Amino acid sequence: MEQQKRYGHFDDNNREYVITDPQTPWPWINYLGNEDFFSLISNTAGGYSFYKDAKFRRITRYRYNNVPMDNGGRYFYIKDGDTVWNPGWKPCKTPLDFYECRHGMSYTRVTGRKNGVEASVLFFVPLKKWAEVQKLTLKNESNEVKNLKLFSFEEWCLWNAATDMENFQRNFSTGEVEIEGSTIYHKTEYRERRNHYAFYHVNTEIQGFDTDRETFVGLYNEFADPQVVMEGRPRNSHAHGWSPIASHYIEVTLKPGESKDFVFLLGYIENEQDKKFSAPQVINKDKAHALIAELDTTAKVDKAFAELCEYWDALLNIYKVRTGNDKLDRMVNIWNQYQCMVTFNFSRSASFFESGVGRGMGFRDSNQDLVGFVHQIPPRARQRIIDIASTQFPDGGCYHQYQPLTKRGNNDIGGGFNDDPCWLIFGTVAYIKETGDFSILDEMVPFDNQPGSEVTLFEHLKISMDHVIKNLGPHMLPLIGRADWNDCLNLNCFSWDPNESFQTTENVSEGTKAESLMIAGLFVVTGKDYVALCNKIEELKNGKIENFNSSTLKSFNFSAEAERMQKAVDAMIEAVKKHGWDGEWYLRAYDFYGNKIGSNECEEAKIFIESQGWCTMAEIGAEDGMVAKSLDSCKKYLECEHGMVLNNPAFTKYIYEYGEISSYPEGYKENAGIFCHNNPWVIIGECIAGRGNDAWSHYAKILPSYVEEKYQTLHKVEPYVNCQMVAGKDAFKPGEGKNSWLTGTAAWMWYTVSEFILGIKPDYDGIRIDPCLPETAGDYTVNRKFRDAEYEITIHPNGQQKGVKSVTLDGQKIDGTVIPYSAGKHTVEVVM
Ligand code: BGC
Repeated sequence: MEQQKRYGHFDDNNREYVITDPQTPWPWINYLGNEDFFSLISNTAGGYSFYKDAKFRRITRYRYNNVPMDNGGRYFYIKDGDTVWNPGWKPCKTPLDFYECRHGMSYTRVTGRKNGVEASVLFFVPLKKWAEVQKLTLKNESNEVKNLKLFSFEEWCLWNAATDMENFQRNFSTGEVEIEGSTIYHKTEYRERRNHYAFYHVNTEIQGFDTDRETFVGLYNEFADPQVVMEGRPRNSHAHGWSPIASHYIEVTLKPGESKDFVFLLGYIENEQDKKFSAPQVINKDKAHALIAELDTTAKVDKAFAELCEYWDALLNIYKVRTGNDKLDRMVNIWNQYQCMVTFNFSRSASFFESGVGRGMGFRDSNQDLVGFVHQIPPRARQRIIDIASTQFPDGGCYHQYQPLTKRGNNDIGGGFNDDPCWLIFGTVAYIKETGDFSILDEMVPFDNQPGSEVTLFEHLKISMDHVIKNLGPHMLPLIGRADWNDCLNLNCFSWDPNESFQTTENVSEGTKAESLMIAGLFVVTGKDYVALCNKIEELKNGKIENFNSSTLKSFNFSAEAERMQKAVDAMIEAVKKHGWDGEWYLRAYDFYGNKIGSNECEEAKIFIESQGWCTMAEIGAEDGMVAKSLDSCKKYLECEHGMVLNNPAFTKYIYEYGEISSYPEGYKENAGIFCHNNPWVIIGECIAGRGNDAWSHYAKILPSYVEEKYQTLHKVEPYVNCQMVAGKDAFKPGEGKNSWLTGTAAWMWYTVSEFILGIKPDYDGIRIDPCLPETAGDYTVNRKFRDAEYEITIHPNGQQKGVKSVTLDGQKIDGTVIPYSAGKHTVEVVM
């Protein structure tokens, strides 16, 4: 039966997912690179590379939504007699005697065997290098001498990935290359405004090359049967215009048992304007030569790879759990943290579902992603916060997205998403709690990147809170603006024109009564954080905190500010209790005209998940039983076999006043899909309420390793990471996964399990211990590095779901549940 089919398995010791069948139900990809130079790579070596920005600096070409799927990548063709094959099976698809793809932490190793020859390629981007290494090892496992013809292949993108796909009247005339020894240089547009080029090198002598695509492939052939390869004869073509490529031709003789390494290097170089050329029309290759020299032997490459592995060891040593349950431990210790790093690097820009041309870094997205990696690389989190805040407007609103290359706000989408400002508090507070670095609040940060407009980061936080307060509707609830977290709940857009995007069409602000309960909950949660932050600063001001440099902060009255904001938070809580409660759950919103959304009175979509998540996290009305009722309603109306759906019942028709959300067929995306991202909100709500059994059962439903079997045939996307959306119960194909990798789900799953389920929560003065577990949980140990301290924390749940009875630090019982921070190694015993 199909159900039995498996495409791979976890290898925890090596921190790898091992794919054993190239024909996965969907390309299963990995990411290479940790800073600046990045690549996407599928299990058949498809994908592409770029420098910093998948739109503006695309190095190699990729065609999304192709037929066949995932066509194009870095390909090695091996011609052994009449047989031509690829180590990753594609594109030739010659049946292999053995195939394996190991996706690891920022590297991928693809191995194929055919007729006694093994070809294994290790792909990775060395730390701090602008290059992808492809180390190919060819091994003769047969008893006869092998004479092989090896062809490499990369197709250049003409830099701007968007115009590369559309402006052919220009593109077909601009392509330029240079060839020098075993290096092929791509220098399109370098003669004019560009100061960068790329190259593809191999560390051995070559016996030929090709740089013109049509010559290499043949106009009527395909990647599966390139003419040059089929004939076993390179043409030494020199591209002028059309589509430049890079292909090396190498003749390899291997004695029985012999093996040889070849280091291929795909690199990117930028030159200073006055050092662009070494002779008229000839690019200055000094930096390329230097980069090649750093990675031109097996030994150098192996060393760079070892460094990469050590880097990941260090990152994954910061938070480690041992529960004895492999399925949980592997997600917490390896894959969830890894996915968080990837979402930090790429936000929502480049995956196999995000084309890399549409969206840069999201304001809300990137703030959320912060909680997923701030413990690993605090300095980069710090920089990210400053970059994000720099795209804010003086009134507290912000650009919804910005381009990573320029760090400028994206005018195509603009601003007006009224939840955005609150997320800046969410991200900044997480950073300070992790690091104890209050000085970030004192950083001078511009508005809209305008020099001269700088104020302190703290003032950005303040105007963020005020942006909500200044934009309240008739029920004193936050006006939604263009949308809140749910980009598709477009209550002010009223579109009948199929040629306009819901995201950018007019946002009618005049006369609107559209209010959001999601923002209300978010405001209460982040408002409480803001109040606590102000109080903390006040407490530390004359104590150990270094005095702020900026005069505004020096004289600022933080306790008065805390009081002011507490009042606003209290008022919001009252407004929700009065106008946001529907009897069994929290309303979702009011529409433009002031009608209820997400109410029992509605015909469809009577209940939504977002407001249940945020209002329960905010504990609004807990004392009146609202939180418990809301959580029960989630179980009753939203939960299904694969997780909790976003709304129920699904919309069955387009509703002009609601916008994009009602444009999707039932069960997909924001119309009652299981939007994994917001399941953790309810799970955290459950944890705060102390309902460990329920929290766990929701969590396990969307935890990839727990449902790995389902991934193989039903979800279909990568079983080692969360996807954004699983089709909901109303869908035609419930359970089908989509949009894997780049989703806020990663950071939220991490935040949920690390802080709320396992209960290890960074705080200003130390680590707060507050687990919420299923009754069946056994003892477990968390090793947590925190600032300059290292804690080994063992928890004894004793069948309790919540409630810490005692905390013992280095043999001494302490008061309360916060382990006070002090540098050095410590052991902690926690009894529940
Ligand atoms: C976006 C998020 C948004 C979510 C829900 C995602 O695709 O990246 O910013 O909150 O969809 O609409």
